[in-house]
Amino acid sequence: MKRIGMLTSGGDCQALNAAMRGVVKTLYNSKEQVEIYGFLNGYKGLIYSKFQMLTGKDFSGILTKGGTILGTSRTPFKTIQDPDENGLNKVEAMKQNYYKLQLDCLVILGGNGTHKTANLLSKEGLNVITLPKTIDNDLWGTDMTFGFQSAVDIATDAIDYIHTTAASHRRVFIVEVMGHKVGWLTLNAGMASGADIILIPEIPYDLDKVIDKIEERDQRGSGFTIIAVAEGAISKKDAKLSKKEYKKKLEKMPHPSVSYELAAAIQEKTGREVRVTVPGHMQRGGSPCPYDRVFASRLGAEAGKLILDNQYGFMVGYKNREMVRVPLEDVAGKLKSISPDASIVKEAKLLGISFGD
Ligand code: F6P
Repeated sequence: MKRIGMLTSGGDCQALNAAMRGVVKTLYNSKEQVEIYGFLNGYKGLIYSKFQMLTGKDFSGILTKGGTILGTSRTPFKTIQDPDENGLNKVEAMKQNYYKLQLDCLVILGGNGTHKTANLLSKEGLNVITLPKTIDNDLWGTDMTFGFQSAVDIATDAIDYIHTTAASHRRVFIVEVMGHKVGWLTLNAGMASGADIILIPEIPYDLDKVIDKIEERDQRGSGFTIIAVAEGAISKKDAKLSKKEYKKKLEKMPHPSVSYELAAAIQEKTGREVRVTVPGHMQRGGSPCPYDRVFASRLGAEAGKLILDNQYGFMVGYKNREMVRVPLEDVAGKLKSISPDASIVKEAKLLGISFGD
């Protein structure tokens, strides 16, 4: 008999359900008897013992369903070790609930913040297996996270729609793409939709270079320009500020990202009509794309296999086209960002895309 606790934590994304279904199907298809405890709303469910016992029926028909059947929440790692408002030690509470239910392991699906807590619980002696979830694709130890490809599809669609109206009105359009502190989503959606300028946090931009590209397109008679801007993009000027100073600057802005500031600056310097579109949380919504359904199912199956083999303390990842298991301590606290020298960046530049650098 194996008793498995499962939870989804952090921002949701497509294919969370597909991944959980993959784990559970693999376990049910083994000779092992299995009990599944689904903790509700992320780590909160484990802290406050809010769970549901799940059976095969709960996982039926969820391969294509967006969101998470367990609910999720953000529980900041920085405060997870602080007592709650009633003085409860959250880490101890999670451990106690794990032991009270006599769990054999926890399957945790999440991104960067989630992995810090998962690693902490593993170091505290709990058996933990994690799966790499995030539209940002910024998790260390895996070439790909599930949710990413679905979000690329949606952001690409958004830029495609903007393309026709931008061309008709001969405007400059900024489409702000999610991605937190990295530019994977923007770079891929930008390339897929033929953006002319792609601004990502890893390559700080120079406003004059952005304007040069807009004017170059004007001179060629294109008349419009599409700029895909990562929400975390930063100008060369701002990159010189300390983290504290930059945070203060963002806090003072009505929309805490570079998009509107950039739009105003371009408008002022060129006299062009500039518009901003922010697809926002749409990028995390809806059904997973076929790639993510397959990918998340495969990750889930590998996680199920690790559980059957009693192998714990790992994230299941994907490296060089192989499923791999990565020690949690190698994943926690590290960000996978784009190197400015990456071949995809060089290829984008060969295609004439400007990074404003
Ligand atoms: O990490 C996923 C993500 O969608 C980021 O791209 C974005 O910065 C953030 O979550 C938004 O968070 P929230 O859902 O808390 O607004």
